[in-house]
Amino acid sequence: MPPPPGHHHFSHLACLLLAFLLLPGTAAGLDNGMGRRPPLGWNTWKTCGEATCGHDVCNEREVKAVAEAMLGNGMAALGYDFVNLDDCWASPDRDPNTSALTWDAARFPSGIPSLIDWLHARGLKFGLYTSAGNQTCSSGGRPRPIPGSRGHYAVDAKTFAAWNVDYVKFDWCGDIKKQVLKGKQAHVDFARAMNASGRAMFLEVVAGYFFFWSDIATVANSWRFCTDHHDEWKSTNVEITCRIDQTHKSEGAPGGWPFMDMLLTGGQGCSPLSKGAHCPGQTDDEYRTAFAVWSLSQSPLIVATDVRKMTAVMNQTLLNKDLVELHQSTATPPGKHLAYWECAEPLMCEVWGRKIVANGTSWMVALVNHGKKVHNITVEWKELGFADGEAATVVDVWDAQRRVVDSNAKVSFSARVPSHGSAVVRITKL
Ligand code: GLA
Repeated sequence: MPPPPGHHHFSHLACLLLAFLLLPGTAAGLDNGMGRRPPLGWNTWKTCGEATCGHDVCNEREVKAVAEAMLGNGMAALGYDFVNLDDCWASPDRDPNTSALTWDAARFPSGIPSLIDWLHARGLKFGLYTSAGNQTCSSGGRPRPIPGSRGHYAVDAKTFAAWNVDYVKFDWCGDIKKQVLKGKQAHVDFARAMNASGRAMFLEVVAGYFFFWSDIATVANSWRFCTDHHDEWKSTNVEITCRIDQTHKSEGAPGGWPFMDMLLTGGQGCSPLSKGAHCPGQTDDEYRTAFAVWSLSQSPLIVATDVRKMTAVMNQTLLNKDLVELHQSTATPPGKHLAYWECAEPLMCEVWGRKIVANGTSWMVALVNHGKKVHNITVEWKELGFADGEAATVVDVWDAQRRVVDSNAKVSFSARVPSHGSAVVRITKL
């Protein structure tokens, strides 16, 4: 973990005292060297295999098929290298001798360690899910509840380490959900168990932000700070608004990244009853907007839809080289909401942006339309720190040819943006 801002101004003693006050009984935070860049990958949660698509069903054949798709469709080459199992992999029974979690043998007949070896041999990384409480959030259609990690943090962290897991998602379900006062200590305890496991593993927490606010980077490499993301515009809109509202720690830095939850670009998987049809819950414009805001603000890009069925919009957005490369760059701070733009509707439009280079001469800007109608949205030079009259070129980043849409913009740039859509442009001073 990087030291918190201002860290160097504290004396060592003051730091220790502060740590003692904030985290009784703990040493330093999760200093595991992981997450120097925000992770990219896939998660099983919305690639639904059952009739109602209400919960996750994963199995070894599906996971390998998805991994092969990622290796073949350009995702892995662009850096999407995490293959993460959500709440779908464990069996209802711990090992009676070691108390270790065990995998669902019907879903994973060759076992999780052998699946991990298979992925590692192909240059991919692997993530697993567990919960802070005594049960996970969903039994995944199984008749008995799935155990969470409560009371077993050390053994679970050691088991994940022994299997060579690379990423752990630490959810907030089971008995602990009603014991909010235990939340902070549970996160500290699990982070310490991860540190003591003998293997550096990336740690995503779902609820930790609510217990730590600005200190969350001391216990996790990424943290959710809003509700679950679902495949509908209302939910995408909530995530974007949340990002603007959560000022405490909505900016990531190497080692720790605020997570806007999974990306649903292209639509969640359909039930087998829909016979292979694709089921998008949002328009292509809405998926592009989500990707623009997630990538500019450097949220982890964990896709949860079925990447075996890449639609045109999935190809255009998930594989957008400029946006993914900028997402992985740590040359400048994460992008953010720069300004509101008054659209003639109850909902405001927004300007999001990120410096591409530290001296601020080049920016990636997203003009986001939250309204129901088409709007002209403008970014003004003062929002980018440019002087009025300074000339810049503007390139359309959604356009496959990256065409110049204005070769001599001065003072501002405006684009016509469809409802819930976004214009994403690179603006560079001449
Ligand atoms: C919670 C989490 C989701 C998912 C499910 C699994 O709702 O927020 O991301 O992991 O549990 O049951």
